[in-house]
Amino acid sequence: MEAMVNNIRVEKAATSKIHDVDFDNLAFGSTYTDHMLVSDFVNGEWKEPKIVPYGPISLEPSAKIFHYGQSIFEGMKAYKDVEGGVWLFRPMENCKRLNKSAERLTIPELPESYFMDGLMALLQLEKDWVPKNPGSSLYIRPFMFASGSGFHASPADEYKFIIALAPSGAYFSGKVKVLIEEKYSRAANGGVGYAKAGGNYAGQFYPTQLAAEKGYQQVIWTDDNNHEFIEEAGAMNVFVRINDTLITAPTSDRILDGITRKSILDIAEDENIATEVRKISVHEVVEAAKNGTLKEMFGAGTAAVVSPIAGFGYKGMDYDLPVLAESYAEKLKKRITDIQYNRAEDKFGWRH
Ligand code: COI
Repeated sequence: MEAMVNNIRVEKAATSKIHDVDFDNLAFGSTYTDHMLVSDFVNGEWKEPKIVPYGPISLEPSAKIFHYGQSIFEGMKAYKDVEGGVWLFRPMENCKRLNKSAERLTIPELPESYFMDGLMALLQLEKDWVPKNPGSSLYIRPFMFASGSGFHASPADEYKFIIALAPSGAYFSGKVKVLIEEKYSRAANGGVGYAKAGGNYAGQFYPTQLAAEKGYQQVIWTDDNNHEFIEEAGAMNVFVRINDTLITAPTSDRILDGITRKSILDIAEDENIATEVRKISVHEVVEAAKNGTLKEMFGAGTAAVVSPIAGFGYKGMDYDLPVLAESYAEKLKKRITDIQYNRAEDKFGWRH
């Protein structure tokens, strides 16, 4: 049966799975809604997106995604307020970043209207899937990959863009212990670190697994040159508080231009918290931990929002962070989630 929602063609699922879902016990990103948005790039152009039932897709074994990893994604969330209103947070930023990643991976850019209109129609159809329990949201996963085939190591001639939705609970529960990386890197100068390329995440799994064997949940990524400066925390940007100053590394071709990262910087400024965007050396962090001026570290990203760090390991030593009565992580997380869930005024105009 075909219908139209906001000018987007919809092929409706025969039945809904929504009543099988336990919305009180949602894991992160492992239950999917009834529909997904799909657009294909064929004959040199992106075709109008359509909404179809969520389900398996068919690809040739020679599809270039399997061989050369031409694949990018975004992470967004839809939030439900107490009155049942559904909100997005700075969605155009995701749309623009997707196309920035696309350019780096030689994937054809998607028209912004296909992204935004398609997403709005999909959310309109799936709004009952946005959970209302505190801390839960509808995780939105837009992604694009090379569906065209060929073993020749060159860009594919066909691509797929999909948006899938997953009602989700928290990404992490509680604080995490992290290991400052001394050997492996997630990104290099001139590489793809700033893009949300699937391979950037695949490359993290092995070092993260080694860290987990030593009792650390996440890796703090350091520069690929001498592992001298801290750059990211797992799949997130990283913030360090020394005394009362909040510091994060500048974005570069190695560091993702995180939407949560830049929103946190703006909110911190609004809260009169001193911020610095500059390189942070591992030496500075270790010395600050030793002399008691290192107050907090946290990761920031769409999925985990703000993820406080309990302590870190470096060169065989463990350093614990203090438990504070007034933590920046808590304060900033509250401000940003109050905006996202429409619990507070949005002076920045970020809610959509
Ligand atoms: C996000 O924060 O949305 C991310 O992209 C991290 C992801 C690997 C879960």
